[in-house]
Formats: sequence, C-alpha cells, structure tokens
Amino acid sequence: MGARELVTAVRHLETGTLVGHTVLMVFDAVPAAAFQDDTLVLRRHRGHRLGTVLKAANLLRLYEQLPDVQRIWTWNAVENRHILDINEALGFRPVGVSGQWQKVLRR
Ligand SMILES: CC(C)(COP(=O)(O)OP(=O)(O)OC[C@H]1O[C@@H](n2cnc3c(N)ncnc32)[C@H](O)[C@@H]1OP(=O)(O)O)[C@@H](O)C(=O)NCCC(=O)NCCS
Repeated sequence: MGARELVTAVRHLETGTLVGHTVLMVFDAVPAAAFQDDTLVLRRHRGHRLGTVLKAANLLRLYEQLPDVQRIWTWNAVENRHILDINEALGFRPVGVSGQWQKVLRR
C-alpha cells in the first residue's frame, strides 16, 4: 500500500501479556497526513489511562519519525465517549460528521 505504520503496544508486566495497542498510518502519496487506525485496550485493563498513554506515546513517535506530517485524521462513533474523551484531551477537534444507515433484515 505504500504506507508506513507506527504501532505502540503496552505490556502487563505481571503476566507478560500485551493488553493494548494503537496504530497510526502514513501513506507515501500523502506524506503530510497521518491516519489513526485501531486503538484497543483489553476490557479488564480499561479505565487506567492506558488508552491515553498509548495514543500520546504514538503521537510523540510520529513527531520524531515522520516530521512532515501536519495533520492526523481520525473517525469515531458519536456514542464512543471513551475514545472521544481521549482524543479531545490530546487536542483533536471535530471537523465533520458522516451519517450511516443500517437496515436489519429478518428472515
Ligand atoms: C477506548 C479505549 C481504547 C479506552 O481505553 P482506556 O485505557 O480505558 O482509556 P483511558 O483509561 O485512557 O480513559 C480515557 C477516558 O475514557 C473514559 N473511560 C475509560 N474507561 C471507562 C470506563 N470503564 N467507564 C467510564 N468511562 C471510562 C474516561 O472518561 C476516561 O477519562 P477520565 O479518566 O479523565 O474520566 C477502550 O475503552 C477500548 O479498547 N474500547 C474498545 C475499542 C474502541 O472503541 N476503540 C476506539 C475506536 S478504534
């Protein structure tokens, strides 16, 4: 895809288990823009700031490793208050909305 990915993960020291990760992508064709991909913290480890720390650490790596990036795009469901809290705290601002429709098919 001509893309570079920055992945940051967090390990639970007692068990050695990876319990969260976050991914940023930068495409060679658009070097000024980064795109936020998945962020996930395992359910039993949520609420301890791991999501915030993961995203902040990955943003610092982006500044260091890909200094041409000027903007980061991300998308969130409006009901996902947890990730919206994190993104707002890190300085992301809403610039647009998109609507999606679903039809449930019953047999
Ligand atoms: C979103 C997600 C990554 C947050 O991870 P986390 O480590 O729990 O996040 P943090 O501890 O940094 O919490 C950030 C804020 O979210 C809210 N929050 C997090 N966990 C919460 C919980 N269990 N109950 C209520 N609020 C919660 C809080 O507002 C918190 O800020 P505060 O402590 O100042 O009030 C995690 O919930 C997750 O993996 N969700 C499923 C995947 C997902 O939706 N990913 C995002 C879209 S890709």
